[in-house]
Amino acid sequence: MVTNPYSPGDRPRVFVGRQAERNKLRERLARVIAYGEMMGPLTVVTGPRGVGKTSLLRDVADQAARDGFVVSWTVGLKRKPFLDELLGQVARALARTEAVSAPAARRRLAELGVQFNVGLVKVDAKVAPGTPDREPFDHGSVGQVEEFLGEAAALVRSGGGAGLLVVVDELHAPLEPASDRDPGQDQAAAADAAVLLNAVQDMAAEKERFPLGVLGAGLPQTKALLTRTATFAERTREIVLPKLDGPASRALLAEPAKLLGVSWSDEALDWAIQQGDGYPQSLQIIGEAAWDAADPAEGGEITLAHAKAAEQAIRLELESMFQARWQAATDAEKRFLGAMASRQTDTIPRAAVARALGLDTASLSMARRSLIAKGMIEAPAHGELRFTIPSFSRFVLAQHDMAPRDRSKDE
Ligand SMILES: Nc1ncnc2c1ncn2[C@@H]1O[C@H](COP(=O)(O)OP(=O)(O)O)[C@@H](O)[C@H]1O
Ligand SMILES: [Mg+2]
Repeated sequence: MVTNPYSPGDRPRVFVGRQAERNKLRERLARVIAYGEMMGPLTVVTGPRGVGKTSLLRDVADQAARDGFVVSWTVGLKRKPFLDELLGQVARALARTEAVSAPAARRRLAELGVQFNVGLVKVDAKVAPGTPDREPFDHGSVGQVEEFLGEAAALVRSGGGAGLLVVVDELHAPLEPASDRDPGQDQAAAADAAVLLNAVQDMAAEKERFPLGVLGAGLPQTKALLTRTATFAERTREIVLPKLDGPASRALLAEPAKLLGVSWSDEALDWAIQQGDGYPQSLQIIGEAAWDAADPAEGGEITLAHAKAAEQAIRLELESMFQARWQAATDAEKRFLGAMASRQTDTIPRAAVARALGLDTASLSMARRSLIAKGMIEAPAHGELRFTIPSFSRFVLAQHDMAPRDRSKDE
C-alpha cells in the first residue's frame, strides 16, 4: 500500500498551475531583490474559500525565502486586532535568520524588540475597543510601524539578504462586519488595518528606502473592507484568483500520484476533472477518495471504476464542505441562493432573482452584498450573478429540494 498523496484542506504535496499569478508576484518581489526597493503598495490575493489563496501564498513565500527573503506569516482572526501579532512574527522571523547574524545586527534587533514592545503598548492603548471618539489611526503608531518594518527590512538587506516579506493571510477576517444587519467593524481591528495601510502607503512613496514586500490574501470582499478603514486602500493591488483550468486540474490529480509511481486512466481523469469543476479543494477531495477506493500499489492505476466507486464518499465530503458554507448563510440568503440555483445557468440576471423571490432589487441588495462578501457568489458583470463554485448550486438545489426548473417559461 502506498500512502494517499492528496491533501484536502491542507498544503498540497504538488503545487500546480497559477503561472500568471506566480509570475506577477515574483516580478514584484524581483524588484526588492534587484534594487532593494519596496514591491509597491499592498498586494492582496482574493477569492472564495478553497480556491487556493493560502497555497499560492505559501508557494510564493517559499520561493521568496529561497531568494533570500526573510518571510513573516500572520493569519488574521475574525474581528481581532492583528498588528501586534504581525510585528511579533516579523521579529521572530528575523531572530531565526542567518541574514541577521552579525553581533551588531543582533543587538539592533534586540533593541528594536524592546523599542517596538514599548511602541505596541502605546498602539494598544490608542485602539482599546470601546474608546469613544478615537481617531481611526494616529501618526505616532503609523510612524512606529514604519520605523520597525523599515529597520527590520534594512537589517535583512545589510546582512546580505534580499529583504523582508510580510504575509497576512485571512486579511478580511479582522475587518468582518458585526453581522449582516450591522456593518460595524471591530474598532481595534480596523485601526490596526488603517495603521498598516498607512505605513505601507508612506513607505511605498519612498520605495527606494525599503527592501520590503507586504502581501495579503482574503475573501473577495477584502479590498472593500480595507477601503472602509482607509480610503486610499483603493490603491491596493488585487489579484483575483480564478478556478483552475483543465490542464492544471489534471495536473493536480495526476502529479501527486505520479510521484508515487501511480497513474490515472484518461477516463478516470476526465470524470474527476468534470466533477471537480476547477475548484482545488474539490479536486483534492476527489483525488483522495478515488485513491482510497483504488488503494493502488506502486505501478498501479486509478481507473474510472475506482473513481466511480468513490462517488458516494466524494459526494459526502463535498456536501460537508458545502454544508459549512450553507450554514454561514442567513435564511434570506438561503432563499436568495435557492432562487439563483433554480435557474441552472452559469450566470443569472439579478432581476430574475428579484422576480423569483417577489422582491424589488433594492431589498435584495443586502443579501446579495453579504453573499458576495462571504465568497459564495460573485458579480461577473453589472446586474449579473453567479456561484463562485458552480457545483455549490447543485447542493443548494438539494437543500431546497427543488426540481430543476424549465427556464423557457421564465421570461
Ligand atoms: N495550486 C494548487 N495546487 C494543488 N493543490 C492546490 C492548489 N491550490 C489549492 N490547492 C488545494 O486546495 C485546497 C484549498 O486550498 P487553500 O490554499 O487552502 O485555499 P484558500 O486559502 O483559498 O481557502 C487545499 O487542499 C490545497 O491543497
Ligand atoms: Mg486560506
